[in-house]
Amino acid sequence: MCSGCKLSSMGLLLIPPDGSALGTPAPTTAWSRKHPGRVVALQLFGLNLTGQISSSIGNLTFLRTLNLSKNSFSGRLPPLNHLQKIQVLDLSRNRLHDSIPDAITNCSSLRKIRLTTNFLVGEIPPKVGLLSNLSVLDLFANNLIGIIPPMLGNITSMRSLVLAANNITGSIPDELGKLTNMWNLALGQNMLSGGFPRCLFNLSNSLQILGLGSNMLSKEVPPNIGDDLPNLQMLSLYGNMFEGQIPASLGNATGLEWLVFKNNNLTGMIGEWIGKLTRLQRLYLQANSFIGPLPSSLGQLTQLRYLTLGNNKFEGPIPPLGQLTQLEGLSLANNKFGGPIP
Ligand SMILES: *[C@@H]1O[C@H](CO)[C@@H](O)[C@H](O)[C@H]1NC(C)=O
Ligand SMILES: *[C@@H]1O[C@H](CO)[C@@H](O)[C@H](O)[C@H]1NC(C)=O
Ligand SMILES: *[C@@H]1O[C@H](CO)[C@@H](O)[C@H](O)[C@H]1NC(C)=O
Ligand SMILES: *[C@@H]1O[C@H](CO)[C@@H](O)[C@H](O)[C@H]1NC(C)=O
Ligand SMILES: *[C@@H]1O[C@H](CO)[C@@H](O)[C@H](O)[C@H]1NC(C)=O
Ligand SMILES: *[C@@H]1O[C@H](CO)[C@@H](O)[C@H](O)[C@H]1NC(C)=O
Ligand SMILES: *[C@@H]1O[C@H](CO)[C@@H](O)[C@H](O)[C@H]1NC(C)=O
Ligand SMILES: *[C@@H]1O[C@H](CO)[C@@H](O)[C@H](O)[C@H]1NC(C)=O
Ligand SMILES: *[C@@H]1O[C@H](CO)[C@@H](O)[C@H](O)[C@H]1NC(C)=O
Ligand SMILES: *[C@@H]1O[C@H](CO)[C@@H](O)[C@H](O)[C@H]1NC(C)=O
Repeated sequence: MCSGCKLSSMGLLLIPPDGSALGTPAPTTAWSRKHPGRVVALQLFGLNLTGQISSSIGNLTFLRTLNLSKNSFSGRLPPLNHLQKIQVLDLSRNRLHDSIPDAITNCSSLRKIRLTTNFLVGEIPPKVGLLSNLSVLDLFANNLIGIIPPMLGNITSMRSLVLAANNITGSIPDELGKLTNMWNLALGQNMLSGGFPRCLFNLSNSLQILGLGSNMLSKEVPPNIGDDLPNLQMLSLYGNMFEGQIPASLGNATGLEWLVFKNNNLTGMIGEWIGKLTRLQRLYLQANSFIGPLPSSLGQLTQLRYLTLGNNKFEGPIPPLGQLTQLEGLSLANNKFGGPIP
């Protein structure tokens, strides 16, 4: 524990030892220089703290950082409506059962919200869209329902939006196409429907990670995806109902390291374009209906660590894969390959 601090049984730091101790080592509490005695940061990471988060935290009106992640706090979120200076709110990896209150919009200075891995319920309040300085909204692994609020498209400072592993429904709103600073969009493991969100083609300069796996998305993957999202490093579309071919334009997204198409309804042949993805580490294509011979350029992907092609209708010879010296996982089962194993 930080020397001189007193922790109540509720895990709330109550008494600053003196008004000058700014920046003591973690776990830290920092006090304001301009306003002696006012707490500006409370960081109690990974201390196995339990019980409710004391509602007195809601009175720390000078708070800029509240980071209580990786504890065992249960119950409700602390009242947020007076925390108008708070910039970082991290209550992730606790056991909080609550809905996200509308009052969060009063925290107008917020830059990062991380509430991952809790038991939060209810809908994402559309008013979150009023937090104009937000750059990270991470709600991974909760029990949230409802739609992705179109109002989120107003937060043009957004860089990372993670709503994966919830129970979110509806289609991906076109308004997300306004978030032209976004590099990380993770919406996997929900119940999203509709087609591939073409609005994201507006994010061509920024988007690097796109996770849409394990939803109910359907229809074709747009042919221009690789031309319009040339900076992609990870594309994960597994476990949907996509059909048609994998677009050859992906050969233009030469930074791709992960390409995950397994468990869809994709068909057609994999073209020689795949050989242009020289940084590819993971190529997961199993459980689709791909046909034809494998492209010989597969053998040039020397960074490949996982290559899974099982449960398709590939045929013909297995191309030489001897240059793939990084390979850790290879599956070819349940296809119609012929000839020798190279
Ligand atoms: C938290 O609790 C676990 C199990 O009870 C224990 O192994 C771990 O050392 C504790 N961590 C801290 C920081 O007290
Ligand atoms: C917050 O501050 C107000 C006014 O000082 C006080 O009446 C209230 O009891 C405080 N709330 C908590 C939970 O400490
Ligand atoms: C909260 O603290 C942990 C541990 O120091 C850190 O890893 C994490 O990034 C912090 N959260 C935010 C949102 O900065
Ligand atoms: C938000 O803050 C204002 C003061 O700026 C206050 O009047 C209002 O009651 C707060 N809203 C809520 C929902 O608490
Ligand atoms: C948003 O960020 C800008 C630039 O850092 C800052 O000047 C402004 O005060 C912030 N707005 C709010 C509501 O905190
Ligand atoms: C935010 O977005 C909604 C819907 O996308 C729009 O109707 C509204 O005018 C926007 N509000 C602000 C304050 O920009
Ligand atoms: C998602 O919602 C459906 C329908 O309301 C429900 O049956 C299912 O258990 C929920 N799943 C999760 C992970 O919350
Ligand atoms: C594309 O982004 C620009 C801002 O760069 C925005 O004005 C426009 O509305 C966006 N278009 C779509 C379809 O989202
Ligand atoms: C993108 O890929 C397509 C299909 O492979 C190709 O015809 C086109 O020339 C490529 N565009 C660029 C800019 O490399
Ligand atoms: C997959 O595609 C085939 C042929 O287009 C179609 O008959 C079948 O119903 C599709 N399966 C699913 C699960 O969408």
